[in-house]
Amino acid sequence: MDVIESRVETRSDEYRANYEHMEKLVAELKSELAKAREERSATARARNAELGKLTVQQRLGCLLDPGTPWLEVAPLAAHGMYDGKVYSAGTRAGIGVVGGREVMVTANDPMIKGGTIYPMGVKKSLRCQNIALENRLPYVSLIDSGGAYLPLQSEVFPDADDGGRIFYNQAWFSKLGIPQICAVMGLCTAGGAYIPAMSDHVVHVARTGAIFLGGPPLVRAATGEEVSAEELGGADVHCRLSGVSDYLAEDDAHACQIVRDIMAALPPARKAQIARREPRPPRYDPHELWGVVPRKLSTPYDVRELIARLVDGSEMLEFKALYGPTLVCGWAYIHGYQVGILGNNGVLFSESALKATQFIQLCDRQGTPLLFLQNIAGYIVGKEYERRGITKDGHKMVHAVATATVPKLTVIVGASFGAGNYGMCGRGYSPRFLWMWPNAQIGVMGGEQAADVLISVKSDQLARTGQEPLQPAMIEAIRRPIIDAALKEGNAFYSTANLWDDGILDPATTRDVLGLAIAVTLNAPLEGRDQGQGVFRM
Ligand code: COA
Repeated sequence: MDVIESRVETRSDEYRANYEHMEKLVAELKSELAKAREERSATARARNAELGKLTVQQRLGCLLDPGTPWLEVAPLAAHGMYDGKVYSAGTRAGIGVVGGREVMVTANDPMIKGGTIYPMGVKKSLRCQNIALENRLPYVSLIDSGGAYLPLQSEVFPDADDGGRIFYNQAWFSKLGIPQICAVMGLCTAGGAYIPAMSDHVVHVARTGAIFLGGPPLVRAATGEEVSAEELGGADVHCRLSGVSDYLAEDDAHACQIVRDIMAALPPARKAQIARREPRPPRYDPHELWGVVPRKLSTPYDVRELIARLVDGSEMLEFKALYGPTLVCGWAYIHGYQVGILGNNGVLFSESALKATQFIQLCDRQGTPLLFLQNIAGYIVGKEYERRGITKDGHKMVHAVATATVPKLTVIVGASFGAGNYGMCGRGYSPRFLWMWPNAQIGVMGGEQAADVLISVKSDQLARTGQEPLQPAMIEAIRRPIIDAALKEGNAFYSTANLWDDGILDPATTRDVLGLAIAVTLNAPLEGRDQGQGVFRM
């Protein structure tokens, strides 16, 4: 394989300016992540301690095998939503190692409104279940939740993808043989009660844990009966009388130990086999990505400069290097795992789309995971290109991406606009994981372009009806809100708040995250996949 030779001048002013720009974005990201992890009210902290409970961070510390990596999922979900303090949508989630097995872990945070489930919390739970399903990961839930966040009950309850879907999925996990282990660490009310009920193993913490369909406040409201949480659904009731819970734990730490024992007793994972090599660091320091990525999305640069800082030995076997040059395709290794990489080097033309289609099919046949480095303004437009069939060639690429059965991973490293998002495996194309870099933007098109389209439509309309053309002030009145909205709603924080991605990554840690993610995807078998295609438009 050829080593990618970098042409980036790391002592140039441009590099320095890019570096400082990304440094600021990453510092903002880290500060928001720290807040999400730690910022809780003194009252909530005191209440948690008074009840003898560990914090979510401490619970994770007890649960996860020491010294093993933790791949957090959507830590900034619900960022800036509600009162701005429903950190991580009220639920910490991630993939960690427990008893030697990779598992999906979710943990309600009782210090955020009693661990209640907000609409984004439902969306996050469903996303985590989807990750576990696609990657065949056992699922551990540390439950401590007052159930639905009642002021927003209409947004968490009635629809197909609302709360009920979580328990529906749990039934299917059980049917598919995906182990589900639940530790009851607080009051599990209503919806919260169904999670243990639908799990394979239920560990119940004495005194602080309780399970009931209606908690004491609801029982009081419904029947007038005064009953304590312990009498209604405490550990003794469920371990001794009802049989709802299977293992009695003395406290949170003991519960985590029991979960670890259950995990260790599961049969070992049989990992799918893909091409592997001895892992090697890239020749170029991944930290240099801060200086490589331009400050403006519109500044072109060679995606090979990113690949050189992500892959083992900075080596890649490039496929069709001279054909369709606006898309770079090639085979490389990340932490020793073979991947097929597709990275944008400009807008997608027919040739680049056809090259992508062929490359994806090759990777799919040989069982090589696909990595999409997405920085795309869209497919080329215009009379000539329509006549040459850009729409049908784009279709082939989108079709191949949609139906590829190998694990797909996507990192949005810059722009993610229009159908380019589809062809480069955006969220709708079921990548096993999708992350954004902090500089990334997502939307149907950039704000400037969207404003131009609307101004053009308005001008045509005025001309058609014989009215005065648009004056500069009117143009600005159309342009400004569109650009402002696109900037706000297209940025990485907005995307991650809405769970359009699995998190924002520091470019410098992306290689390590990808290595972990590929290892996770191999929990699902690769053999027996249906590699047939639909009909390609020729
Ligand atoms: N919806 C909205 N907010 C809720 C809530 C719910 N279901 N349950 C609790 N909260 C809020 C409380 O109003 C309080 O808010 P504040 O901090 O702004 O005052 C916060 O969560 C913590 O509640 P508190 O009762 O002080 O804490 P706790 O640790 O003593 O008890 C619960 C937490 C969740 C066990 C308890 O509040 C409870 O039983 N809630 C009702 C549960 C229920 O019946 N749910 C049915 C919904 S399906």
